[in-house]
Amino acid sequence: MTTNPPAAGSPTPANGTMRAWVQDRYGGPEVVELDRVPVPVPGATDLLVRVRACGIHAGDVRLMRGDPYLVRLAFGIRRPRTATRGIDVAGTVVAVGSEVTGSRPGDEVVAEIGVGGGLAEYAIVPAARAVVRPADVPVQHAAALPVSGGTAWQALDAAHVASGSRVLVIGAAGGVGTYTVQLAAQRGAEVWALAGERALDLMTDIGAAHAFDYRRVQPGSPEIPAESFDAVIDIAGTVPLSALRGLLRDGGTVVLVSGAGGKILGPMGRMLKAVFLSRRRRRIRSLAATAKPEILAQLLELTAQGTIRPVIERTYPFHAARDALAHVDAGHAVGKVVVTVE
Ligand SMILES: NC(=O)c1ccc[n+]([C@@H]2O[C@H](COP(=O)([O-])OP(=O)(O)OC[C@H]3O[C@@H](n4cnc5c(N)ncnc54)[C@H](OP(=O)(O)O)[C@@H]3O)[C@@H](O)[C@H]2O)c1
Repeated sequence: MTTNPPAAGSPTPANGTMRAWVQDRYGGPEVVELDRVPVPVPGATDLLVRVRACGIHAGDVRLMRGDPYLVRLAFGIRRPRTATRGIDVAGTVVAVGSEVTGSRPGDEVVAEIGVGGGLAEYAIVPAARAVVRPADVPVQHAAALPVSGGTAWQALDAAHVASGSRVLVIGAAGGVGTYTVQLAAQRGAEVWALAGERALDLMTDIGAAHAFDYRRVQPGSPEIPAESFDAVIDIAGTVPLSALRGLLRDGGTVVLVSGAGGKILGPMGRMLKAVFLSRRRRRIRSLAATAKPEILAQLLELTAQGTIRPVIERTYPFHAARDALAHVDAGHAVGKVVVTVE
């Protein structure tokens, strides 16, 4: 295919190869190795981006592990067909496909790129997914936005959260949760947060009216009473579905973002059960968030204005990307984890 030439002064790969973190089998962070691989060639509607930062999230480690097994049906039975993890990318366009008209070399962009490819020096970004990064949003912040921010936004939409809604966010301290709390507060909702003890002060800092330690306070207890919420956003996935439904006021909605489950189906089992437990006046809906560049553009704008702020717990240099995956894999991140590609 034909690509338009890189802009003068663009950093281009010297010998057609680049460094990338790759895996040739499913497993924990130990299966991911730093290697030298060919620089990918953009298709006619793609951009080639010099990666400057890559956000890591729970979905990356699910793909790394092939967990649940259902994932492997879609992404590769023996090993992931895309060997490099990393979906959230911020970087500089260095070449564009022959049919691309809206981007050019030198543009600073952010994107959610599909199943992987971001933990590398260069990545392919479908042009339709690329959003221009405002100059006053740092690359680390931009790379922390796409999947987690987009999921939070879509969860709040699915629960019809608006000004005056009372919302309970379960799993409020993680990557998705820290955006859910902020975006719900920004919509004018009254936000209640269930999070780990060390994140409780953060919860009130970012807009929660009430914050509780999930290890001490159970939904349905006097602190978090039944029949009190217009929306429950369940990101942790451990509270029984009937208890979640019992938290709702008449007309309310539970949105399931995740769910504990077995090795084969993972959260799918819980999501199927939700169909049977949902009621007309107390709905339970499962969310499968998708890449929405128009939402990413609004998230970048809100970040540029200072209305929301990506909570970044740790930033890792590229050579330590395996440690970033391991930290997210452990399941105790507070906010986001970002790898910078120097
Ligand atoms: N449906 C979709 O489209 C979609 C999209 C994106 C992500 N997801 C899923 O959403 C889930 C969360 O993703 P994430 O990136 O936010 O995860 P994460 O960043 O890894 O979340 C970690 C945080 O969750 C807290 N936590 C763990 N168990 C909890 C519980 N029972 N109650 C309250 N807080 C708890 C941890 O606190 P402690 O350290 O104190 O335990 C930690 O702060 C993942 O399963 C992911 O696959 C789904």
